[in-house]
Amino acid sequence: MKPFSDQKIIDSWRKNAFPWITALENEEIASRVNVTNQAIINAVLIESPKKVLDIGCGEGWLIRRLQDHGIVGIGIDIVPELIEYARRKEKGQFLILAYEDLSFASIGQTFEVIVCNFSLLGKESVEHIFQQAYQLLDEGGAFIIQTVHPEVANGMNEYKDGWRTGSWAGFSKEFVDPAPWYFRTIDSWKRLFLDNGFLISKIIEPFNPRTNDRTSLILKAIKK
Ligand SMILES: C[S@@+](CC[C@H](N)C(=O)[O-])C[C@H]1O[C@@H](n2cnc3c(N)ncnc32)[C@H](O)[C@@H]1O
Repeated sequence: MKPFSDQKIIDSWRKNAFPWITALENEEIASRVNVTNQAIINAVLIESPKKVLDIGCGEGWLIRRLQDHGIVGIGIDIVPELIEYARRKEKGQFLILAYEDLSFASIGQTFEVIVCNFSLLGKESVEHIFQQAYQLLDEGGAFIIQTVHPEVANGMNEYKDGWRTGSWAGFSKEFVDPAPWYFRTIDSWKRLFLDNGFLISKIIEPFNPRTNDRTSLILKAIKK
């Protein structure tokens, strides 16, 4: 398996399902608890959707929080242990599905909102999601992503798309074999939307007063 590949991302997440569940259960990721969870919830709620697709839902926290607001949610993820945990919570519907297999045919319905919260990590698999999202959205539907902020997360690297080595710095010792990730500039993220039939309707840069910097980038787009 190539060390910098979408397949390696899946391989790594399979190894880290249980530490990930524990980290979220124990609210170990401060930026999520303090800033980004509420930011993505707000970005979805403002669309007043009845039905949402969460791509790369992990252990399903976002679907559960949205259901508390009366929203029906379907989550997809490739890692069986995460999906099994999500199902046990009995809120929302969850499918084990690789991004590579996502299509209108594999899901069989459309949504008012598609959301990806820190789940667009790879290269070709992410391009595939953008190609499929149009058909999975209702007319006027919104496609919302939250990702690490390209100008903050890039560190000392050249500001150019490309694979980056992963890290579990700041996480518990239970985490192993960090997944690589494919860095995209802000322009590249915008291009993915525009090239696949979307108009960007909002850009949000959630700010963390504790670190005095932007925690993430939220891009919201609608069907052209
Ligand atoms: C950082 S986690 C985010 C999970 C969730 N969205 C959240 O907010 O907690 C990234 C998720 O993307 C999933 N993922 C990555 N590549 C995938 C692929 N090719 N197909 C399906 N799921 C994938 C992983 O299994 C993992 O659950």
